[in-house]
Amino acid sequence: MLPLRAMIVRTPEDLRALCNDARAANQRVGFVPTMGALHDGHLSLVRLAREKSDFVVVSIFVNPTQFGPNEDFTRYPRDLDGDAKKLARAGAVDAIFAPEPSAMYVAGEQTRVRVGALGDALCGPFRPGHFEGVATVVAKLFVLVGACTAAFGRKDYQQLAIIRRMASDLFLPVTIAPAAIVREKDGLAMSSRNAYLSADERARALGLSRALGAASRAFSRGERDAKALEKIARVEVEKSADTIDYVSVVDADSLADLAKVESRALVAIACRIGKTRLIDNFVLGEDDPSSVARGADVG
Ligand code: PAJ
Repeated sequence: MLPLRAMIVRTPEDLRALCNDARAANQRVGFVPTMGALHDGHLSLVRLAREKSDFVVVSIFVNPTQFGPNEDFTRYPRDLDGDAKKLARAGAVDAIFAPEPSAMYVAGEQTRVRVGALGDALCGPFRPGHFEGVATVVAKLFVLVGACTAAFGRKDYQQLAIIRRMASDLFLPVTIAPAAIVREKDGLAMSSRNAYLSADERARALGLSRALGAASRAFSRGERDAKALEKIARVEVEKSADTIDYVSVVDADSLADLAKVESRALVAIACRIGKTRLIDNFVLGEDDPSSVARGADVG
């Protein structure tokens, strides 16, 4: 592993050369794309990439094209030094790619990756252009890194589904490795945006994992009606959220609406606590029910 100073790569050309050199030396490349403000959720992806490869690259880039005009692009937490220290402590990273926006979006650029139906579900209507921005930057990163195993978290379940589809549709030489959601002890899914929450909001943010817990328990008791499961989850979210974008039970592969839960189903939530938009999800019958918070209802 390289010393900390040598680890930071700033230009697309250097990233491409570094990854080509690693493969030329018979090393398998692992890749973890992030926007920084790293927490244990990100570090779990780094460990996963490390297990599956010999040379691990983490990108840290707050991607402007995936933020809407009224979203938090300018105030999104940025701390490259702190992130580099966390990665050095984790000890499993060979290079950090931290480009300037003008290096990723060169003057005159105009090409975007258009996402299909997977991008129209769940967060799609609430964040127009978001998944196009995500798919575009991840495609650019994949092209620079080249053949690799790339780790993505189930925390952003829809993003993971879209990236898998894109990698397959565009024949990108990338194997996607999905990672479970890392949660705080009380059940809150870790997120860089949790740093925005006041003490009161942090307490209320538990409403998301409580809602998932309530739906999971109803599912264990035999409830299979998607609308009934949604309602059970929504009641919990309503107790704590200021606004709700959606509480949905959808097919876990297509993300299409469901009437009855017969195969893998996803419970997905997006809401605002104060000004902070939080998302969380749970795959019924697959994820560990003890991972999500218990609410007042003892079912
Ligand atoms: P970011 O929000 O920084 O997340 C980077 C990766 O960490 C994503 O794959 C995300 O799902 C994963 N992650 C975040 N919180 C997690 C948690 N609590 N448990 C497990 N994994 C978690 O997602 C993005 O950045 C961007 O959209 C990006 C893919 C980098 C493109 O700009």
